[in-house]
Amino acid sequence: MAHRPGRVLVSRAEIAARVAELGRAIAREHGRETPLLVGVLKGAAIFMADLIRAIPVPIGIDFMGVASYGVGTRSSGAVRLTSDLSVSIEGRHVILVEDIVDTGRTVDYLRRNLETRDPKSLQVCTLLDKVERRQREVPLDYVGFAVPDRFVVGYGFDLGGLYRNLPDIHALEEG
Ligand code: IMP
Ligand code: MG
Repeated sequence: MAHRPGRVLVSRAEIAARVAELGRAIAREHGRETPLLVGVLKGAAIFMADLIRAIPVPIGIDFMGVASYGVGTRSSGAVRLTSDLSVSIEGRHVILVEDIVDTGRTVDYLRRNLETRDPKSLQVCTLLDKVERRQREVPLDYVGFAVPDRFVVGYGFDLGGLYRNLPDIHALEEG
């Protein structure tokens, strides 16, 4: 069955407003710490680019790459590191920036991985939270939107590598 982007679940205006709030919240909590924001490639690249410009205090950025999905809409369950950080996080306040927490396996894996490198603190910021699908209990410090169990595309979210460039977040539809 073919799929296509259907109705808008979260509009670009709603995203922009919420990202501004998240940026202010991060600045309030970490204003004097120069936190390191770690974006999870590739999905969170778009969110990360908007989020960091909404944080009005000094920050650092870095990226990690993971692959957890095949070409379909269900996770393979196995998380694989495809690229690592370029800086040490020892003694840093780290905020992991994810596009979505679905089963929780990816964030659980990344959290455990990063904890072994002795950050001063480790928080998680995710744009979307698919609460119903959780299999691993993972603490989330900043959440953009809770969403229902629908596969989404746009604003960084892809299906088989496509649709990341759409400005809004759409539910995927058949047809
Ligand atoms: P988890 O490990 O099951 O929590 O899955 C997290 C990863 O699965 C996310 O970083 C996304 O890359 C991907 N993912 C989960 N749900 C969706 C979706 O609805 N659209 C696109 N990607 C998704
Ligand atoms: Mg992802």
